[in-house]
Amino acid sequence: MGPTSGSDDTQQGDHVQNQMVIERNGHMNDSRSAQMSESAEQKMIRASGVVKEYRTGTSTLQALKGVDFSVTKGEMVAVMGPSGCGKTTLLNCLSGLDDVTEGQVWLEGVDLATLSDKQRTESRARRMGFIFQVYNLLPVLSAIENVELPLLVSGVKSREARDRSREALRTVGLEQWATHRPAELSGGQRQRVTIARALVNNPAIVWGDEPTGALDSTNATEILTLMRELNRTQGLTLVLVTHDPGVGAGCDRIVRMRDGEIVGEERPSGEFGLDGLGVTHGTEDSVQMPSRTAQLTRELYGQG
Ligand SMILES: Nc1ncnc2c1ncn2[C@@H]1O[C@H](COP(=O)(O)OP(=O)(O)OP(=O)(O)O)[C@@H](O)[C@H]1O
Ligand SMILES: [Mg+2]
Repeated sequence: MGPTSGSDDTQQGDHVQNQMVIERNGHMNDSRSAQMSESAEQKMIRASGVVKEYRTGTSTLQALKGVDFSVTKGEMVAVMGPSGCGKTTLLNCLSGLDDVTEGQVWLEGVDLATLSDKQRTESRARRMGFIFQVYNLLPVLSAIENVELPLLVSGVKSREARDRSREALRTVGLEQWATHRPAELSGGQRQRVTIARALVNNPAIVWGDEPTGALDSTNATEILTLMRELNRTQGLTLVLVTHDPGVGAGCDRIVRMRDGEIVGEERPSGEFGLDGLGVTHGTEDSVQMPSRTAQLTRELYGQG
């Protein structure tokens, strides 16, 4: 990856973000899980025949053309494909951030269509972490306050939220930057704050859209290694969109997309191979105005 870590704050730090949440080792209640078959229970996410259409004016664009996809609990999956092929759209639809036009999505065996908006928001807050390009850090909050946000939204007491957030920042090597605001951090540091926020609530699944795109190869390898460790030790499920073959190489499975469809998959057996690879981050949505950032963050957390 390229020389990106500290210099170009404006673009890089705004590039990610997200959130989270978790309930440690949260499980569905017994009656619900008892209704599910064994195989359904092992699926973190399952999508069947998912079509997503965007209507703009009189024209309709089919961004997903009948996608079947599933992720087993504890899997670390990379989604790869050319710009515009539907990767972000897929993540938005699978995580319940956006509605599907046709088809069904089950999260831990529960059909998302059967949940109200409020229930979906709660599910995101309690079970998911997001490291997305569009969900940036709130500029008026310090690093630790940004990390705390999802915990507070989930009802965690402020003292505990502060302790857990400090620990999460320590995990990404930023404890000493806790009181700094995003503008005072480098792009790579901001991305790590975002990652701390995505992990602080101990989520069951983390969705990443170019999660390490703004990091240099050393930091990217560190963060991916950390995610891999959480995956192995805590069963964290990860779905990571990436343009970087070196990221895909360290995942359990690479799913290839093209033109709104899944066109193949591979099972790489290697390690993350990030050295010497070009940085391929920076899409049209990577730079956000603060007001838009605040709006998107509220959207994610279901506030405001
Ligand atoms: N909100 C929207 N309204 C209309 N069209 C959209 C919207 N979001 C995405 N699209 C279109 O849907 C298609 C898929 O977009 P998507 O953002 O999912 O691509 P992507 O694979 O994530 O690309 P990239 O790698 O550049 O981030 C593109 O043609 C895009 O222009
Ligand atoms: Mg995208």
